[in-house]
Amino acid sequence: MARILIAGASGLLGINLALETMREHEVVGVDRGKLQTAPFRVIKADILKTTEIDSILDSIQPDWFINCAALANLEKCEEDPIQAKMLTTDLPGELAAACAKRSIRFLHLSTDSIFDGTKEGFYTEEDEPNPPGIYSQTKLDGEKVVQQANPQAIIARVNFYGWSLGAKRSLGEFFVNNLSVGKNVNGFTDVIFCPMWVNHLSRLLVKMLEKDLHGLYHAVGAQPMNKYQFGLEVARKFGLRESLIAPQSVESSGLTAKRSHNLWLSIHKLSTDLGGEIPAFSTGLDGFYTQFQQGYPQKIRSYQQPDA
Ligand SMILES: NC(=O)c1ccc[n+]([C@@H]2O[C@H](COP(=O)([O-])OP(=O)(O)OC[C@H]3O[C@@H](n4cnc5c(N)ncnc54)[C@H](OP(=O)(O)O)[C@@H]3O)[C@@H](O)[C@H]2O)c1
Repeated sequence: MARILIAGASGLLGINLALETMREHEVVGVDRGKLQTAPFRVIKADILKTTEIDSILDSIQPDWFINCAALANLEKCEEDPIQAKMLTTDLPGELAAACAKRSIRFLHLSTDSIFDGTKEGFYTEEDEPNPPGIYSQTKLDGEKVVQQANPQAIIARVNFYGWSLGAKRSLGEFFVNNLSVGKNVNGFTDVIFCPMWVNHLSRLLVKMLEKDLHGLYHAVGAQPMNKYQFGLEVARKFGLRESLIAPQSVESSGLTAKRSHNLWLSIHKLSTDLGGEIPAFSTGLDGFYTQFQQGYPQKIRSYQQPDA
Protein backbone atom coordinates (compact mmCIF):
# COMPACT_ATOMS: atom_id res chain seq x y z
CA MET A 1 0.00 0.00 0.00
CA ALA A 2 1.32 3.43 -0.98
CA ARG A 3 0.51 6.83 0.52
CA ILE A 4 -0.80 9.07 -2.26
CA LEU A 5 -1.10 12.83 -2.01
CA ILE A 6 -3.61 14.30 -4.48
CA ALA A 7 -3.67 18.06 -5.13
CA GLY A 8 -6.86 19.44 -6.65
CA ALA A 9 -8.88 16.79 -4.82
CA SER A 10 -12.17 18.63 -5.43
CA GLY A 11 -11.79 18.58 -9.21
CA LEU A 12 -13.31 16.12 -11.69
CA LEU A 13 -10.23 13.95 -11.77
CA GLY A 14 -9.12 14.61 -8.18
CA ILE A 15 -12.30 13.45 -6.44
CA ASN A 16 -12.81 10.38 -8.62
CA LEU A 17 -9.14 9.41 -8.44
CA ALA A 18 -9.21 9.70 -4.65
CA LEU A 19 -12.38 7.59 -4.30
CA GLU A 20 -11.17 4.96 -6.79
CA THR A 21 -7.70 4.74 -5.26
CA MET A 22 -8.57 4.72 -1.55
CA ARG A 23 -9.72 1.09 -1.90
CA GLU A 24 -6.12 -0.07 -2.24
CA HIS A 25 -3.95 2.80 -1.08
CA GLU A 26 -3.86 5.48 1.60
CA VAL A 27 -5.14 8.71 0.07
CA VAL A 28 -4.64 12.26 1.33
CA GLY A 29 -6.27 15.06 -0.65
CA VAL A 30 -5.29 18.73 -0.74
CA ASP A 31 -8.15 21.14 -1.25
CA ARG A 32 -8.74 24.85 -0.70
CA GLY A 33 -11.95 24.39 1.27
CA LYS A 34 -14.66 22.79 -0.86
CA LEU A 35 -14.48 19.27 0.54
CA GLN A 36 -16.11 18.90 3.93
CA THR A 37 -17.11 15.27 4.42
CA ALA A 38 -15.04 13.28 1.93
CA PRO A 39 -14.33 9.70 3.01
CA PHE A 40 -10.58 10.25 2.77
CA ARG A 41 -8.26 12.59 4.68
CA VAL A 42 -8.30 16.14 3.32
CA ILE A 43 -5.82 18.91 4.10
CA LYS A 44 -7.04 22.44 3.54
CA ALA A 45 -4.20 24.46 2.00
CA ASP A 46 -3.24 26.99 -0.61
CA ILE A 47 -0.89 25.07 -2.87
CA LEU A 48 0.22 28.27 -4.57
CA LYS A 49 2.22 28.98 -1.39
CA THR A 50 5.49 27.10 -1.62
CA THR A 51 5.93 27.04 2.16
CA GLU A 52 2.58 25.25 2.56
CA ILE A 53 3.54 22.60 0.01
CA ASP A 54 6.90 22.03 1.69
CA SER A 55 5.30 21.54 5.07
CA ILE A 56 2.59 19.21 3.65
CA LEU A 57 5.20 17.06 1.91
CA ASP A 58 7.32 16.92 5.06
CA SER A 59 4.45 16.05 7.37
CA ILE A 60 2.55 13.60 5.09
CA GLN A 61 5.66 12.06 3.47
CA PRO A 62 3.75 10.57 0.54
CA ASP A 63 5.20 7.90 -1.73
CA TRP A 64 3.42 9.45 -4.73
CA PHE A 65 2.12 12.92 -5.48
CA ILE A 66 -0.51 13.35 -8.23
CA ASN A 67 -1.15 16.94 -9.23
CA CYS A 68 -4.74 17.38 -10.48
CA ALA A 69 -4.88 21.13 -9.77
CA ALA A 70 -5.01 23.43 -12.79
CA LEU A 71 -6.95 26.19 -14.44
CA ALA A 72 -8.59 23.66 -16.74
CA ASN A 73 -11.25 25.88 -18.29
CA LEU A 74 -10.09 26.99 -21.76
CA GLU A 75 -12.20 30.14 -21.83
CA LYS A 76 -11.02 31.27 -18.36
CA CYS A 77 -7.40 30.76 -19.43
CA GLU A 78 -7.93 33.12 -22.38
CA GLU A 79 -9.45 35.67 -19.97
CA ASP A 80 -6.70 35.36 -17.35
CA PRO A 81 -3.41 34.20 -18.87
CA ILE A 82 -1.42 35.23 -15.77
CA GLN A 83 -3.45 32.99 -13.45
CA ALA A 84 -3.27 30.22 -16.10
CA LYS A 85 0.53 30.41 -16.20
CA MET A 86 0.81 30.48 -12.41
CA LEU A 87 -1.33 27.39 -11.86
CA THR A 88 -0.68 25.39 -14.97
CA THR A 89 3.00 26.06 -15.67
CA ASP A 90 4.84 27.57 -12.67
CA LEU A 91 3.15 25.58 -9.88
CA PRO A 92 3.70 22.15 -11.49
CA GLY A 93 7.41 23.00 -11.88
CA GLU A 94 7.67 23.90 -8.20
CA LEU A 95 5.77 20.79 -7.10
CA ALA A 96 7.91 18.59 -9.34
CA ALA A 97 11.10 20.08 -7.87
CA ALA A 98 9.85 19.74 -4.28
CA CYS A 99 9.08 16.06 -4.94
CA ALA A 100 12.44 15.41 -6.65
CA LYS A 101 14.23 16.82 -3.59
CA ARG A 102 12.42 14.31 -1.34
CA SER A 103 12.41 11.30 -3.72
CA ILE A 104 8.61 11.38 -3.97
CA ARG A 105 7.26 10.03 -7.29
CA PHE A 106 5.46 12.84 -9.12
CA LEU A 107 2.65 12.44 -11.66
CA HIS A 108 1.60 15.47 -13.69
CA LEU A 109 -1.52 15.78 -15.83
CA SER A 110 -1.28 17.34 -19.26
CA THR A 111 -3.71 17.47 -22.14
CA ASP A 112 -4.38 16.17 -25.65
CA SER A 113 -5.01 19.75 -26.77
CA ILE A 114 -1.30 20.66 -26.97
CA PHE A 115 -1.64 19.44 -30.59
CA ASP A 116 -3.04 21.77 -33.23
CA GLY A 117 -5.09 18.96 -34.77
CA THR A 118 -3.90 19.44 -38.34
CA LYS A 119 -2.36 15.96 -38.64
CA GLU A 120 -4.20 13.16 -40.48
CA GLY A 121 -4.51 10.07 -38.30
CA PHE A 122 -3.27 9.75 -34.73
CA TYR A 123 -0.62 11.61 -32.72
CA THR A 124 2.14 9.76 -30.90
CA GLU A 125 4.37 11.02 -28.09
CA GLU A 126 7.00 11.71 -30.78
CA ASP A 127 4.83 14.23 -32.63
CA GLU A 128 5.62 17.92 -32.27
CA PRO A 129 3.01 19.85 -30.25
CA ASN A 130 1.74 23.20 -31.49
CA PRO A 131 -0.64 24.60 -28.86
CA PRO A 132 -3.52 26.63 -30.30
CA GLY A 133 -4.38 28.73 -27.22
CA ILE A 134 -3.41 29.92 -23.73
CA TYR A 135 -4.60 26.78 -21.94
CA SER A 136 -2.73 24.41 -24.21
CA GLN A 137 0.38 26.63 -24.25
CA THR A 138 0.53 26.78 -20.44
CA LYS A 139 -0.01 23.00 -20.29
CA LEU A 140 2.84 22.36 -22.73
CA ASP A 141 5.10 24.75 -20.81
CA GLY A 142 4.05 22.84 -17.67
CA GLU A 143 5.22 19.57 -19.26
CA LYS A 144 8.62 21.12 -19.98
CA VAL A 145 9.22 22.57 -16.51
CA VAL A 146 8.12 19.33 -14.83
CA GLN A 147 10.42 17.30 -17.07
CA GLN A 148 13.34 19.63 -16.29
CA ALA A 149 12.75 19.74 -12.54
CA ASN A 150 12.02 16.05 -12.15
CA PRO A 151 13.11 13.70 -14.99
CA GLN A 152 11.62 10.73 -13.10
CA ALA A 153 8.13 12.28 -13.22
CA ILE A 154 5.26 10.80 -15.20
CA ILE A 155 3.53 13.25 -17.54
CA ALA A 156 0.17 11.95 -18.76
CA ARG A 157 -1.77 13.64 -21.57
CA VAL A 158 -5.39 12.87 -20.83
CA ASN A 159 -9.02 13.43 -21.81
CA PHE A 160 -11.80 12.10 -19.62
CA TYR A 161 -15.42 12.38 -18.53
CA GLY A 162 -17.24 11.47 -15.35
CA TRP A 163 -19.32 12.88 -12.51
CA SER A 164 -18.05 16.04 -10.81
CA LEU A 165 -18.81 17.96 -7.60
CA GLY A 166 -20.28 20.89 -9.52
CA ALA A 167 -22.24 18.53 -11.84
CA LYS A 168 -21.12 20.27 -15.01
CA ARG A 169 -17.39 19.79 -15.42
CA SER A 170 -17.46 17.02 -18.04
CA LEU A 171 -18.94 16.62 -21.50
CA GLY A 172 -20.73 13.45 -20.35
CA GLU A 173 -22.54 15.45 -17.66
CA PHE A 174 -23.34 18.20 -20.18
CA PHE A 175 -25.24 15.78 -22.41
CA VAL A 176 -27.00 13.95 -19.56
CA ASN A 177 -28.03 17.17 -17.76
CA ASN A 178 -29.43 18.88 -20.85
CA LEU A 179 -31.04 15.93 -22.59
CA SER A 180 -32.70 14.84 -19.31
CA VAL A 181 -34.68 18.09 -19.24
CA GLY A 182 -35.49 18.01 -22.96
CA LYS A 183 -33.05 20.76 -23.89
CA ASN A 184 -31.60 21.03 -27.39
CA VAL A 185 -27.79 21.01 -27.53
CA ASN A 186 -25.06 21.12 -30.16
CA GLY A 187 -22.53 18.36 -30.73
CA PHE A 188 -19.36 19.22 -32.62
CA THR A 189 -18.82 17.01 -35.64
CA ASP A 190 -15.37 18.43 -36.39
CA VAL A 191 -13.61 17.79 -33.07
CA ILE A 192 -12.24 14.26 -32.79
CA PHE A 193 -11.13 13.14 -29.34
CA CYS A 194 -10.60 9.96 -27.32
CA PRO A 195 -12.74 10.21 -24.18
CA MET A 196 -11.97 7.96 -21.23
CA TRP A 197 -14.17 7.33 -18.18
CA VAL A 198 -12.42 9.03 -15.27
CA ASN A 199 -12.45 5.86 -13.16
CA HIS A 200 -10.61 3.94 -15.88
CA LEU A 201 -8.10 6.77 -16.11
CA SER A 202 -7.65 6.73 -12.33
CA ARG A 203 -6.84 3.00 -12.35
CA LEU A 204 -4.37 3.46 -15.22
CA LEU A 205 -2.57 6.32 -13.48
CA VAL A 206 -2.11 4.23 -10.36
CA LYS A 207 -0.87 1.28 -12.46
CA MET A 208 1.68 3.60 -14.09
CA LEU A 209 3.00 4.51 -10.65
CA GLU A 210 2.93 0.91 -9.45
CA LYS A 211 4.94 -0.11 -12.53
CA ASP A 212 7.41 2.70 -11.86
CA LEU A 213 7.01 4.24 -15.33
CA HIS A 214 8.42 7.67 -16.04
CA GLY A 215 8.31 10.18 -18.88
CA LEU A 216 5.61 11.23 -21.31
CA TYR A 217 2.51 9.11 -22.03
CA HIS A 218 -0.74 9.51 -23.89
CA ALA A 219 -3.42 8.22 -21.50
CA VAL A 220 -6.71 8.66 -23.35
CA GLY A 221 -9.56 6.40 -24.45
CA ALA A 222 -9.03 3.62 -26.98
CA GLN A 223 -11.67 4.84 -29.42
CA PRO A 224 -11.53 8.11 -31.38
CA MET A 225 -14.87 9.77 -32.10
CA ASN A 226 -16.23 13.24 -32.66
CA LYS A 227 -18.08 15.11 -29.92
CA TYR A 228 -21.43 14.72 -31.69
CA GLN A 229 -20.95 10.93 -31.79
CA PHE A 230 -20.04 10.97 -28.10
CA GLY A 231 -23.32 12.78 -27.37
CA LEU A 232 -25.27 10.16 -29.32
CA GLU A 233 -23.53 7.35 -27.40
CA VAL A 234 -24.39 8.98 -24.07
CA ALA A 235 -28.00 9.59 -25.15
CA ARG A 236 -28.44 5.95 -26.22
CA LYS A 237 -26.94 4.57 -23.02
CA PHE A 238 -29.11 6.79 -20.79
CA GLY A 239 -32.28 6.31 -22.88
CA LEU A 240 -32.41 10.02 -23.77
CA ARG A 241 -33.53 11.64 -27.04
CA GLU A 242 -30.73 11.64 -29.61
CA SER A 243 -32.71 14.04 -31.81
CA LEU A 244 -32.10 16.83 -29.26
CA ILE A 245 -28.45 16.87 -30.31
CA ALA A 246 -27.76 18.97 -33.40
CA PRO A 247 -24.59 18.27 -35.37
CA GLN A 248 -22.60 21.50 -35.55
CA SER A 249 -19.15 22.80 -36.45
CA VAL A 250 -17.01 24.07 -33.57
CA GLU A 251 -16.14 27.03 -35.80
CA SER A 252 -19.69 28.37 -35.39
CA SER A 253 -19.82 27.77 -31.62
CA GLY A 254 -18.82 31.30 -30.54
CA LEU A 255 -16.18 29.88 -28.16
CA THR A 256 -13.18 32.20 -27.64
CA ALA A 257 -10.45 29.60 -27.21
CA LYS A 258 -9.47 27.95 -30.46
CA ARG A 259 -10.18 24.19 -30.55
CA SER A 260 -8.13 21.60 -32.45
CA HIS A 261 -10.05 19.47 -34.93
CA ASN A 262 -8.17 16.21 -34.48
CA LEU A 263 -7.15 15.03 -31.01
CA TRP A 264 -6.81 11.35 -31.83
CA LEU A 265 -3.88 10.19 -29.68
CA SER A 266 -2.17 6.83 -29.96
CA ILE A 267 -2.07 4.85 -26.69
CA HIS A 268 0.32 2.24 -28.02
CA LYS A 269 3.18 3.28 -25.73
CA LEU A 270 0.99 3.12 -22.63
CA SER A 271 -0.62 -0.22 -23.42
CA THR A 272 2.79 -1.71 -24.29
CA ASP A 273 4.47 -0.47 -21.12
CA LEU A 274 1.55 -1.49 -18.91
CA GLY A 275 1.42 -4.86 -20.66
CA GLY A 276 -2.33 -4.78 -21.14
CA GLU A 277 -5.29 -3.48 -23.04
CA ILE A 278 -6.73 -0.04 -22.39
CA PRO A 279 -10.45 -0.48 -21.45
CA ALA A 280 -12.96 -0.14 -24.30
CA PHE A 281 -15.08 3.00 -24.62
CA SER A 282 -18.31 0.99 -24.16
CA THR A 283 -17.08 -0.45 -20.84
CA GLY A 284 -16.37 3.07 -19.59
CA LEU A 285 -19.78 4.34 -20.68
CA ASP A 286 -21.40 1.37 -18.91
CA GLY A 287 -19.53 2.36 -15.74
CA PHE A 288 -20.61 6.00 -16.06
CA TYR A 289 -24.23 4.87 -16.43
CA THR A 290 -24.05 2.39 -13.54
CA GLN A 291 -22.75 5.17 -11.28
CA PHE A 292 -25.75 7.28 -12.31
CA GLN A 293 -28.17 4.45 -11.47
CA GLN A 294 -26.50 3.97 -8.09
CA GLY A 295 -26.74 7.64 -7.08
CA TYR A 296 -22.99 8.27 -7.32
CA PRO A 297 -23.40 11.88 -8.63
CA GLN A 298 -25.47 12.84 -5.57
CA LYS A 299 -23.08 11.00 -3.26
CA ILE A 300 -19.99 12.92 -4.37
CA ARG A 301 -21.83 16.25 -4.33
CA SER A 302 -22.72 15.64 -0.69
CA TYR A 303 -19.01 15.80 0.21
CA GLN A 304 -18.77 19.53 -0.38
CA GLN A 305 -19.60 22.56 1.73
CA PRO A 306 -23.32 23.41 1.38
CA ASP A 307 -22.48 26.86 -0.03
CA ALA A 308 -19.52 25.74 -2.19
N1 LIG B 1 -11.27 17.29 -17.96
C1 LIG B 1 -10.58 16.84 -19.01
O1 LIG B 1 -11.10 16.12 -19.89
C2 LIG B 1 -9.13 17.17 -19.14
C3 LIG B 1 -8.56 17.06 -20.41
C4 LIG B 1 -7.21 17.27 -20.55
C5 LIG B 1 -6.43 17.56 -19.45
N2 LIG B 1 -7.00 17.69 -18.22
C6 LIG B 1 -6.12 18.00 -17.10
O2 LIG B 1 -6.40 17.11 -16.02
C7 LIG B 1 -6.20 17.79 -14.77
C8 LIG B 1 -7.46 17.71 -13.94
O3 LIG B 1 -8.52 18.33 -14.66
P1 LIG B 1 -10.01 18.42 -14.11
O4 LIG B 1 -10.91 18.36 -15.28
O5 LIG B 1 -10.17 17.46 -13.00
O6 LIG B 1 -10.00 19.91 -13.56
P2 LIG B 1 -11.07 20.64 -12.59
O7 LIG B 1 -12.27 19.79 -12.39
O8 LIG B 1 -11.25 22.03 -13.10
O9 LIG B 1 -10.28 20.68 -11.22
C9 LIG B 1 -9.21 21.56 -11.04
C10 LIG B 1 -8.74 21.51 -9.61
O10 LIG B 1 -7.77 22.54 -9.45
C11 LIG B 1 -8.10 23.30 -8.30
N3 LIG B 1 -7.71 24.70 -8.41
C12 LIG B 1 -8.13 25.60 -9.32
N4 LIG B 1 -7.60 26.82 -9.03
C13 LIG B 1 -6.85 26.65 -7.92
C14 LIG B 1 -6.06 27.51 -7.11
N5 LIG B 1 -5.91 28.82 -7.42
N6 LIG B 1 -5.45 27.01 -6.03
C15 LIG B 1 -5.60 25.69 -5.72
N7 LIG B 1 -6.32 24.82 -6.43
C16 LIG B 1 -6.95 25.31 -7.51
C17 LIG B 1 -9.61 23.23 -8.21
O11 LIG B 1 -9.98 23.57 -6.89
P3 LIG B 1 -11.40 24.26 -6.59
O12 LIG B 1 -12.40 23.15 -6.67
O13 LIG B 1 -11.23 24.81 -5.22
O14 LIG B 1 -11.61 25.30 -7.64
C18 LIG B 1 -9.86 21.78 -8.59
O15 LIG B 1 -9.68 20.94 -7.48
C19 LIG B 1 -5.78 19.21 -15.13
O16 LIG B 1 -4.39 19.27 -15.15
C20 LIG B 1 -6.31 19.40 -16.53
O17 LIG B 1 -5.59 20.36 -17.25
C21 LIG B 1 -8.34 17.54 -18.06
